[in-house]
Amino acid sequence: MSLATPAPSPTPAAPVFATPVDLPKPPGLTWRVQSREPVGYDVHVVRGLLDPANPALARACGADGQTPTRCLVVVDDKVHTLYGDRVRAYLDAWRVESFWKVLPGDEAAKELESAVEVTEAMTAMGLLRRTEKIVAIGGGVVLDVAGFAASLYRRGVPYVRVPTTLLGQIDAGIGVKTGVNHGTHKNRLGTYYAPETALMDPEFLATVEPRHIVNGLAEIIKMALVKDATLFGLLEATVTGAGPQSLAAGGPVATEVISRSIAGMLDELEPNLWEQVLERSVDYGHTFSPSLELRADPPLLHGEAVAVDMAICVALAHHRGLLSAEDADRALRLMHTAGLPLTHPVFTTDLLEEALRDAVKHRDGLQRMPLTDGIGRVRFVNDLTRDELDRARAFVRQRAGALGTAEDAKDTDLLAVAS
Ligand SMILES: NC(=O)c1ccc[n+]([C@@H]2O[C@H](COP(=O)([O-])OP(=O)(O)OC[C@H]3O[C@@H](n4cnc5c(N)ncnc54)[C@H](O)[C@@H]3O)[C@@H](O)[C@H]2O)c1
Repeated sequence: MSLATPAPSPTPAAPVFATPVDLPKPPGLTWRVQSREPVGYDVHVVRGLLDPANPALARACGADGQTPTRCLVVVDDKVHTLYGDRVRAYLDAWRVESFWKVLPGDEAAKELESAVEVTEAMTAMGLLRRTEKIVAIGGGVVLDVAGFAASLYRRGVPYVRVPTTLLGQIDAGIGVKTGVNHGTHKNRLGTYYAPETALMDPEFLATVEPRHIVNGLAEIIKMALVKDATLFGLLEATVTGAGPQSLAAGGPVATEVISRSIAGMLDELEPNLWEQVLERSVDYGHTFSPSLELRADPPLLHGEAVAVDMAICVALAHHRGLLSAEDADRALRLMHTAGLPLTHPVFTTDLLEEALRDAVKHRDGLQRMPLTDGIGRVRFVNDLTRDELDRARAFVRQRAGALGTAEDAKDTDLLAVAS
């Protein structure tokens, strides 16, 4: 048979597209775009940051003292009152023309509207997109709001962080997360957006209220529990000896505690900046606390809510045989002696369960719950039950009762457990 003239088929003609496999490919072309953005930023502890002889802040603003430069200072209101004149004098000395946006600190101000106001201040000064910087000076609230605004404005303008609280210096000021609260949800709207530089001057801590020093100490205790047994021992000695406020006074022990805490935190954050891995030891104390922090009335500070969460985690680890009775006691005692709450009446087992469900969504379908595996190490679990939460809550209430905190004594459930 000739190849040129095929013979007619002996069978009746079949429909042309009888099965889906016969369907023709849709016309079109496909491109795949892949890119990587390197991230690099410096974290410095610098004393005397506002001394005009110290070039660190000027350099971070891109100033050399010769060529006029401009920046937008986004500053916490209390910091503005206490340090505003010195910041202005410093920037003037370095020929930096400064524009100012003063924002209230404290959690209630951490809202979308504040971030929008910061972007409006950028428009008002006519911020140049690449060369002129935002300098955020304040606690975690102002840093998170200013960083969020910087990440949104023209899809990202450079910013510098100057944290002025203990919590800011060991945590909020050194990572890449920004955000604002929304509804009853902490940091529900946010971005990953690295600063160019973070400059920590421990001298700012001298004016921070005692309760806010203890608030920052909670996050230091977290780092000690999950990563650094030596830091834990150092904290026990400091808190029972010189007291938590000694961390604000400078000195070699305070420097050691703060620098160990920063180093531990950066060590955990660096390989996982965008949280691709959702098993994060630094999430310790941050499973139940987001639900508690905005519901408590009067409000709890971030670190206080983290402490109540950590106390539950200590009990959970103890009941799973991961933490000895002695170490569980040391952990709860350290938090209590530091002045942190261990329980809160809002924390019912129902709320714990609800918070865990929300954390499961945040952690993409699994609990990924960090628990201490001895002091200074963590392991992750995915099978916590309501009964365990209930038992953990009762355990903490009992221990808190024995330690005798004022809040715990007010708690009627605690009295029931204790009797
Ligand atoms: N982005 C992150 O990775 C990250 C990490 C941890 C916490 N956070 C966030 O940080 C926030 C808490 O930060 P915070 O504890 O610093 O609270 P904050 O920013 O509200 O500051 C606490 C109080 O101290 C005042 N203040 C600031 N510096 C001062 C100074 N030097 N002297 C006197 N008063 C001063 C503030 O006006 C405020 O009243 C929370 O919203 C939390 O979600 C963010």
